[in-house]
Amino acid sequence: MTSSAAETEALLDVRGLTVGFTDVDRSSVTLLRGVDLAVHRGEIVALVGESGCGKTLTTRAVLGLLPTPPLAVRGGEIHFEGIDLLAADGDAWQELRGRAMTLVPQHPLSSLNPVFTVGEQFFDLLSFQGQASLGPVGYWRPRLDRATRARHRAATIEALKSVSLPDPEGLIERYPAELSGGMCQRVLIAMALLSNPRLIIADEPGTALDVTIEAQINRLLLTKVREQGAAMLYITHDLGIARELSDRVFVMYAGSVVETGRTGDVFARPRHPYTRGLLDAVPRLSSAPIKGIRGVLPDPKTLGSGCAFRFRCDYAIAACAARTPPLSQLSGLHASACLRAEEITL
Ligand SMILES: Nc1ncnc2c1ncn2[C@@H]1O[C@H](COP(=O)(O)OP(=O)(O)OP(=O)(O)O)[C@@H](O)[C@H]1O
Ligand SMILES: [Mg+2]
Repeated sequence: MTSSAAETEALLDVRGLTVGFTDVDRSSVTLLRGVDLAVHRGEIVALVGESGCGKTLTTRAVLGLLPTPPLAVRGGEIHFEGIDLLAADGDAWQELRGRAMTLVPQHPLSSLNPVFTVGEQFFDLLSFQGQASLGPVGYWRPRLDRATRARHRAATIEALKSVSLPDPEGLIERYPAELSGGMCQRVLIAMALLSNPRLIIADEPGTALDVTIEAQINRLLLTKVREQGAAMLYITHDLGIARELSDRVFVMYAGSVVETGRTGDVFARPRHPYTRGLLDAVPRLSSAPIKGIRGVLPDPKTLGSGCAFRFRCDYAIAACAARTPPLSQLSGLHASACLRAEEITL
């Protein structure tokens, strides 16, 4: 995609992010193949794509939480507020992660520590977030200080109330296993909002919940993000939710972004056959059969060059195997990584 003033001012700017690992047979496997993604201040951006396309890996790389080894960033750039995150030291990370950038994780039930009460987990967050090392004095001082405990308790109750959790005074004494999935997710949202972050990364925050609770959680998240003037990168494989929530959308396939643009434009006129396929796979309340996309995601171990979607694409031609199409600007913010984007009507 060509550079523009808007892109250089991005809050989060990911360019050409490549992540891979060396397999047991010493072969090199590439999982993220040059991801380009940007989030601007106050903007809600959806990242969509089938299971396994690399959405969570992208967010983990952004948050510096890739399991390294075995995974490693092999190329590209990640900038947050102009800071080069791939070159950032431990202190810079402590400042950013969990403060300026927070995560609502994909699996609410397994993301809280099962052996501490909700109140203790908030206490740790309020006391120690951003501190690299504590030592016994640093650890015990806030715990033994009555005024600090009272202040953190009040802040926790306030945070739990703000995400509409009933009986926050009782809740702080309970363990995660005593809460429902929706309650755990609200607790995690409250934690993610605690530091007034500039960017919230929400990784499929509703996946583990039933649809009515998921809708409530999404509404709540959206309201809180807008209230705080934060930006949000919202990961989902549900296109209906992406359409409802986001200003812009990035569509990922097999480790790279294949289409992006304003959500309304991409949904009204998709310019990549994969996006068209995803839209056709959305269940509707009519009797029309769901079309879906034939085949499955290619195995990253055997995926060579060329368009990764060509094996499943009705529009593929010989040229699609010859080279990997770059994400090319079509009009305004709309860009597609399809060689035939200008020529075919989807
Ligand atoms: N630690 C790891 N080691 C090796 N491969 C991994 C590792 N973590 C993820 N992968 C692979 O990377 C690819 C992308 O995984 P990722 O979790 O990012 O998918 P996703 O788009 O978030 O899927 P979902 O919608 O199911 O959450 C998958 O092929 C997955 O098997
Ligand atoms: Mg995921």
